[in-house]
Amino acid sequence: MNDLAIRTVDLVREYEGGTVRALKGVSLEVRRGEHLCVMGPSGSGKSSLMYLIGALDRPTSGEVWLNGRNLEREPDLDAVRATEVGFVFQLHNLLPTLTSLENVEIPMMALGVPRAERRRRAEELLDRMGLSHRRDAIATKLSGGERQRVSIARALANRPAVILADEPTGDVDSKTGGQIMECIQAARAAAGATLVVVTHNPELSKSADRVMMMRDGLLGPASP
Ligand SMILES: Nc1ncnc2c1ncn2[C@@H]1O[C@H](COP(=O)(O)OP(=O)(O)OP(=O)(O)O)[C@@H](O)[C@H]1O
Ligand SMILES: [Mg+2]
Repeated sequence: MNDLAIRTVDLVREYEGGTVRALKGVSLEVRRGEHLCVMGPSGSGKSSLMYLIGALDRPTSGEVWLNGRNLEREPDLDAVRATEVGFVFQLHNLLPTLTSLENVEIPMMALGVPRAERRRRAEELLDRMGLSHRRDAIATKLSGGERQRVSIARALANRPAVILADEPTGDVDSKTGGQIMECIQAARAAAGATLVVVTHNPELSKSADRVMMMRDGLLGPASP
């Protein structure tokens, strides 16, 4: 079991008092260092699953294990998130009044990384995303693709063991999309991190070790 980064057991997530059943019993195992791609139609439950794995939400029933720990028994999900998970959101929610650099520094502040080290790491991550020239731009002044790249730099800031990326290239052209995936892959390779990517783009699934398909709240093998 120790070689599993992510394990979910019969995960159910209902919304609106049970009238919406977004996940209907999802059991998934992802090995440490594995790159999994999850595809599936809009509304099938992909983001709901990512939120649960990323400790941003709690299930209606079922279990989520992250790096060998049952999240149900973790009293402080904030701490789990800060140390174990890097989340790239479908809607990149940067803090609007802060600069690119400051947005990338935020998660490191939560862990008490000293200021000079924070700045150095944030600059390096933004460089890798091709955004050195937009370091000091306020988030609201960035284009959609630039915001997405800042949000990826932010997700990688604390060198997480598990990287969860929900449509990381949704807003960008295919060339930028390729660059973004290369950056995520490089960060994963450097840290031996586990990577789960949700996407509608079949191109992005090509580099994955395994592709699964979400259909109407259930996860299964991708059709050949
Ligand atoms: N907070 C919420 N309250 C009520 N219903 C929700 C909520 N979040 C998601 N849903 C519903 O749950 C289902 C699954 O949503 P989810 O966002 O997980 O889908 P998705 O596969 O990520 O879709 P997309 O590809 O469009 O991002 C949908 O029917 C959605 O309307
Ligand atoms: Mg989604």
